[in-house]
Amino acid sequence: MAKVALVTGGTRGIGAAISRALKEAGHTVVASYAGNDEAAAKFKAETGIPVYKWDVGDYDACAAGIAAVEAENGPVDILVNNAGITKDGFFHKMSKDQWSAVIRTNLDSLFNMTRPVIEGMRARNFGRIIVISSINGQKGQMGQVNYSAAKAGDIGFVKALAQENANKGITVNAITPGYIGTDMVAAMPEEALKRVVAGIPVGRLGKPEEIAQMVVFLASDHGAFATGATFAVNGGQYMA
Ligand SMILES: NC(=O)c1ccc[n+]([C@@H]2O[C@H](COP(=O)([O-])OP(=O)(O)OC[C@H]3O[C@@H](n4cnc5c(N)ncnc54)[C@H](OP(=O)(O)O)[C@@H]3O)[C@@H](O)[C@H]2O)c1
Repeated sequence: MAKVALVTGGTRGIGAAISRALKEAGHTVVASYAGNDEAAAKFKAETGIPVYKWDVGDYDACAAGIAAVEAENGPVDILVNNAGITKDGFFHKMSKDQWSAVIRTNLDSLFNMTRPVIEGMRARNFGRIIVISSINGQKGQMGQVNYSAAKAGDIGFVKALAQENANKGITVNAITPGYIGTDMVAAMPEEALKRVVAGIPVGRLGKPEEIAQMVVFLASDHGAFATGATFAVNGGQYMA
């Protein structure tokens, strides 16, 4: 059934593909972003999907942003916690700012975004919460202690929240993408990227659309029995 879906970081990369796919599946979709107004305006013009700007690391901004989204579109039934960043570097050289920025954006955001919508979902006996974690939260990745810790935290969040809300028609799941061809991966040094692709049995980077269709399934009525789970979409790079 058609629902209202909010996709954080839904204007670029994997999030943009998720926004488009949920719209194609018939849902009313809104997308949030952090600061890239140009990309957001282009995305809005191409898709007709409304965009909202706030920082998912800021609880008050999330509460205000969600209130505006709900006033204009109706209660959020499907929340896709997708927004994320990297601030890579070896741990012995990592600054507190590199650590905090990643934990704040990739992990605190789950509290900030989910807390304002969960009571409404419980009252309506329906909800779909989908978190875009990462392969590197499962296997760990050198140079990404901050990111790996945040993304592993995402998985614990999903398992606990799923248990609390399973009897309220709410499912909570994580997707752990492998390396997907977006700006985030394009920012990697070329040699490092070549080494990564060589280690992917499927022999290529993933496409944002390949993550998006997993989201569409989990958001659908067919996804009702899947909860507290972690769905790997990584080309066979890591089999947990
Ligand atoms: N690409 C991969 O290979 C890969 C693999 C595994 C997991 N992931 C995860 O998948 C998610 C999406 O990654 P991506 O590659 O699509 O990233 P991306 O291309 O860099 O896009 C990131 C999106 O998140 C938004 N965002 C970043 N910080 C934010 C903040 N503080 N508040 C609100 N929005 C914020 C950005 O907004 P602006 O446009 O305004 O900057 C943008 O829309 C992330 O959680 C990432 O960790 C990616």
